[in-house]
Amino acid sequence: MDFGKRLQELEERGLRRETWPVDSCQGALISIQGRPFINFASNNYLGLAQRGEVREAAEQAIRDFGWGSGASRLMSGTHRLHEELEARLATLKRTEAALLFPSGYAANVGALPALSDERTRILSDELNHASLIDGIRLARGEVTIYPHADTEALEAALAQQEDKALVVSDGVFSMDGDVAPLREMVTAVERQGGVLYLDDAHGTGVLGTEGRGTSEHFGVSSASLLQMGTLSKALGGIGGFIAGDRDVIAYLRSRARSFIFSTALPAPACAAGIAALEILEREGGHLRDRLDRLCRYLAVGLERLGLVADPMTPIFPVHAGSVERCVRVSAELRNQGIFGPAIRPPTVPAEACRIRISLTADHEASHVDRLLDVLGMVL
Ligand SMILES: Cc1ncc(COP(=O)(O)O)c(C=O)c1O
Repeated sequence: MDFGKRLQELEERGLRRETWPVDSCQGALISIQGRPFINFASNNYLGLAQRGEVREAAEQAIRDFGWGSGASRLMSGTHRLHEELEARLATLKRTEAALLFPSGYAANVGALPALSDERTRILSDELNHASLIDGIRLARGEVTIYPHADTEALEAALAQQEDKALVVSDGVFSMDGDVAPLREMVTAVERQGGVLYLDDAHGTGVLGTEGRGTSEHFGVSSASLLQMGTLSKALGGIGGFIAGDRDVIAYLRSRARSFIFSTALPAPACAAGIAALEILEREGGHLRDRLDRLCRYLAVGLERLGLVADPMTPIFPVHAGSVERCVRVSAELRNQGIFGPAIRPPTVPAEACRIRISLTADHEASHVDRLLDVLGMVL
């Protein structure tokens, strides 16, 4: 296997990837190798990653309990802070229980295989996140991919299933920012007697009057709904979770392999998560209002540039077409002090490359103005 040659091929197709080491906090303004940028590439939607209370909670937990958790959750790795955070996440999602995983990715690749067997019919939206796709690849059920957010197609696929279905969907689609038609989906899944597994990584903290996510946005609650979320986006930290009925959570605790066979989140990460949830309760409404105003402001500006934009979520795909054009636009943005990486295959199809602009409550209108000016020049 000649990896040098494979790398060369990636290079020629514009698909070689590099990392950009940040040497500052994760705010609206970041420094990369000493150069300042306005950051439009983070999922830190409410600006909690760098908040004082979150840092202090993590620091205090390091002083009290050290850093590492030493073992997986079923060995000696469970700290009382895991259980406190799980109880608070269940409260946020209005479910009986919740289970923490080391990351959102781990939650999806652990839960989906555990929830299905050979007789499960898995129905998956064509634009689902890679971690859902990977979880489904590890699961044993038969898989049908349905067209994006197409409830009629989903209903038709459900009607053909004799066995119970496991419908899998993003709540907010990570690369497009649109929201799944949850109400119709839940109705269809309830009728069939199956389960809807909703990945609300980008809805949690952002959607709903109290930030409970996509389900609150649509006013949906259902015994057929199982919600996945992560602390790594609006909650500004790290760690994935599943929230649902006591029995399903207890079952996952015994069966989800990424829960069983991976070291537990460090207690300071749990302390930071708890502090972030406290801020969400106290100030979430104010932070979401601020974010919402910025989203509307950006959407109007993008439309003025002739682009289609929906301010419903803080994710704005700016379509750039081919890999080459997208890489060029991203480089030109960087030259002008704007950080917005090129989203390319395998994340999106080769002809649908984009700059994924994400806003946070920490941005100012002047940052958005600058982005719009530069986009107007480089697009
Ligand atoms: C929709 C979706 N699900 C799951 C994940 C994985 O979450 P984490 O980054 O916490 O592993 C992501 C992260 O990008 C995501 O966008």
